[in-house]
Parts: sequence; C-alpha cells; structure tokens
Amino acid sequence: MVSYKDLGLVNTREMFAKAIEGGYAIPAFNFNNMEQMQAIISACVEASSPVILQVSSGARKYANQTLLRYMAQGAVEYAKELGKNIPICLHLDHGNSFELCKSCIDMGFSSVMIDGSHLPYEENVALTKQVVEYAHQFDVTVEGELGVLAGVEDEVSAEHHTYTRPEEVVDFVSKTGVDSLAISIGTSHGANKFKPEQCTRNEEGILLPPPLRFDILAEIEKQLPGFPIVLHGSSSVPQEYVKIINTHGGALKDAVGIPEEQLRQAAKSAVCKINIDSDGRLAMTAAVRKVFVENPAEFDPRKYLGPARDELKKLYKHKCENVLGSAGKA
Ligand code: G3H
Ligand code: 13P
Ligand code: ZN
Repeated sequence: MVSYKDLGLVNTREMFAKAIEGGYAIPAFNFNNMEQMQAIISACVEASSPVILQVSSGARKYANQTLLRYMAQGAVEYAKELGKNIPICLHLDHGNSFELCKSCIDMGFSSVMIDGSHLPYEENVALTKQVVEYAHQFDVTVEGELGVLAGVEDEVSAEHHTYTRPEEVVDFVSKTGVDSLAISIGTSHGANKFKPEQCTRNEEGILLPPPLRFDILAEIEKQLPGFPIVLHGSSSVPQEYVKIINTHGGALKDAVGIPEEQLRQAAKSAVCKINIDSDGRLAMTAAVRKVFVENPAEFDPRKYLGPARDELKKLYKHKCENVLGSAGKA
C-alpha cells in the first residue's frame, strides 16, 4: 500500500475548491507514454497551472499501471526540476469496477473515477458508494458520473447522448458521497463527436456542432450549488491538425469537436475539471506524419517523437492559457 501523499501528489479537493471560486477549470490530460507526460508537465510548469494526469483503462493495458504510477511520481520531481512545484493529481479515468479503483488507490493514485453511468441508477449509486467508502479512508477523491455521453469510451459505446437529469443529482451525490460529478450535456469522446447531419456548415464548409446544453448545466448548478462538475469528451478537434494529418497521408473524415469558446464558458461555471485526450492524439499524429512525409529517410524515434512532444506542449499550454483559464493558478 503506497500513499499518494508520500509521492508528492495531491487529490482534487483543494484544486476544485479554488477552481470554482476562481472561475476556471483544471486540465485533465490523458497520458500513455513518456513524451505525453513530459509535454503535459513542461506546459503546465510554464503556464503555472495545476494539472490532473489521467490514466484510462486503455492506458493501463498499453503502458502498464505500475509504470504509469512511477511516471507520475517522476512527474512531481520533473516539475520541481523545471522550477515550479505545481499541484499534480494522478487520476484513474473511467474506472469500471471496485477492484480496479482499489488497485489504483493502493498503488498511489490520488483520485479515481468510478464510471457507473451505463448501469441502472440504483446500481450506479451502490457501486459508486462502495468506491467512495474505500477511497475516503485514504483521502483519495472520487468522481462519479450521471448521464451517458454519445460516442466511444474504452470498450463502451453509445449511439446517443443521455443527458444528465438534474432531478437526480442531489440524490446521487448525497447517497454516494462523491467529490465531483461528471455530467452529460452534449460533449462526447473521440475526434468524431457529431455526425455531419447533426451539424451545420459555415461558408468554408467547416462543420459546426450543436451547442452544449448550458440550460442543463445551469439547472444542475442550481441543484448543487458550489459542487465540482466535470466535463468529459472536451476536445475541440483543431482543424489545423486534421488538415495536416489529411494532407500528409491521413484519412480523418468529418472530425469535429467542442468549440473552445463553449469550454471557456463552461470553465467559468461550476465545471472545474475538463478532460482532453483526443486533441493531444491529433497534435502528435499531425507532427509525426509531417516528419515522415518531409523526411522519409528518418528512422530515429527521437526525430519524430521530439517534434510531436513540442506540438503537444504548445497545445497543452494553449488550453491552460486560453481555454480553461488555469494558467497562473498553481
Ligand atoms: O475516455 C476515453 C479516453 O479518451 C481514453 O481512451 O481508453 O483509448 O485510452 P483510451
Ligand atoms: P476527448 O476524446 O474529447 O479528448 O475526451 C477525453 C475524455 O473524456 C477522457 O475521459
Ligand atoms: Zn471520458
């Protein structure tokens, strides 16, 4: 049993209290490898932003949970070496069982998500409560979810959004004791968040997605004043990356995300954690494809993973400074 406190990590409690108070959101960036971790930490140190390092089930399978935990421990030291002791949380993204959450807590994660959003309501309550009771013994914070996002997340996929029902949130939070609540107001996972027929097109033919349901968010805030709300599926799918990918041998069709202005608006409310994974994937892929097309003889991984890391860092800094408002808050 390792306590995250001994690793220099923090849970989300104070981060979220400050974020709600200050009208900004903490970035929750997914990572699977060293370059992503380096980019996240160096960007957040330069932006002086608190950060949540997220590990998904897919990341655990790809990189190994133990290695990722040691990387997060390394991240704390790396940040200090870069000159700023920013608050860093290590969070399990979309935990799907008590056993998985327990295993992460036992090895030093400071926060876990138990995602029972696909279960019948009472089962979601029971599972989430079980995780909270275990986690709180070790001062680990827990994120629950109500409502289902359309799209693919890990092995589960849903055709349509099931928006969070504001009339359920007080009951869910009081019965489970969760520290934050992920909600469904129209975001979705991946780089193809909406079907073209759900969107309109501007003069340049760019797809414009339907707006987020800020009315549902406002109703949830009314029910749970000052309670930390989380938005998943919040990549914006920058069209410049889609273009670089598609002009350098890629084939991304109808990729569309959540406009940054809407995320800015959400960050000013009780939304205090915004999850971004796909934008990082796009940034890395664009940079790598460009190197391969421009330098076909290149075969040193550092020569394509290095530029990918630089592009990622630029992206993460931009998110902290211009989208979430977390820059300067560490
Ligand atoms: O919510 C999903 C995240 O983007 C992680 O996806 O399981 O493919 O790592 P992944
Ligand atoms: P994106 O696919 O929009 O980046 O969402 C990531 C996410 O919600 C991770 O939990
Ligand atoms: Zn998610």
